[in-house]
Amino acid sequence: MRIRDFLAKQATFINKAIEKYTPKGVPEKLFDAMSYSLKAGGKRLRPILVLESAKAVGKEDISDIIDIAVATEFIHTYSLIHDDLPAMDDDDLRRGKPTCHKVYGEAIAILAGDGLQSYAFELISSNQKVSPDKLLRVINILSHGTGIYGMVAGQAADILHEKENSFDDIEFIHTHKTAKFIQSCCEIGAVLGNAKEEEIKALSKYGLYIGLAFQIQDDILDEIGDEKKLGKKTQKDKNKNKLTYPSVFGLEKSKEMAKDYIEKAKEEIKILKNPEILTEIADFIISREV
Ligand code: IPE
Ligand code: IPE
Ligand code: MG
Ligand code: MG
Ligand code: MG
Repeated sequence: MRIRDFLAKQATFINKAIEKYTPKGVPEKLFDAMSYSLKAGGKRLRPILVLESAKAVGKEDISDIIDIAVATEFIHTYSLIHDDLPAMDDDDLRRGKPTCHKVYGEAIAILAGDGLQSYAFELISSNQKVSPDKLLRVINILSHGTGIYGMVAGQAADILHEKENSFDDIEFIHTHKTAKFIQSCCEIGAVLGNAKEEEIKALSKYGLYIGLAFQIQDDILDEIGDEKKLGKKTQKDKNKNKLTYPSVFGLEKSKEMAKDYIEKAKEEIKILKNPEILTEIADFIISREV
């Protein structure tokens, strides 16, 4: 099966799991805003990486960790809702639909993001099948990768650069705003798959490298991608004075750099039991148009 078909099938699987784990009994408008953004679509790459990393180290039955994979998508969706807010990237279109704040207003969009984030950790800590010590490690990895040492730090650097021309280290921004979260997903899958420490390290490096390539490709698509396919506006980065790989290195060099990261990522996972799917996912990241 081609990797695109495989990923589409996995995304459908994750979509069903998202339905199952969407919280109940939430005030109506807050719930509507959360589920609007969750259901709008998306590649579901982060939960797929959790599950495929676990399988890559030999885990066969993944039925006990699906809620944990879903939790990573809740965090990702929160990050997109906040990323699009007027105070941040001020975007009107996401996943082919008007952004959350355009439909529900800024206050509810902020709260929908907050809610998705904290519920992600509630969901993980409610898992009854994985041992508490593993769950604690998962929570530690995920909060580190998405919080003030990861995504939040990167988003702050991204915004501050645009307004004050500070934090001008492109690698810092991309590593933190995007790669560290993706790295966390791969590490989490490894931990949940009972990986040996050296396998966790390999998947951690794999995640970091594909994460960097992922954001470089995102920057490239902002310049040369198709708005309709992407479901989000293009040419936003230049208009917002964003520090991107193409703005610093040019398009061709950026493509080369992304490719180099992908090659390094694939090298890292050669030691795993089943590296094939992750190898194909790595290639997909720089060939994707969405
Ligand atoms: C977009 O992420 C934001 C970045 C970190 C570049 P995705 O490209 O994974 O977005 P969806 O989930 O498929 O919509
Ligand atoms: C997003 O980077 C990083 C996040 C943590 C959400 P971008 O701002 O470039 O993502 P898009 O292009 O809006 O999806
Ligand atoms: Mg942004
Ligand atoms: Mg943005
Ligand atoms: Mg972008």
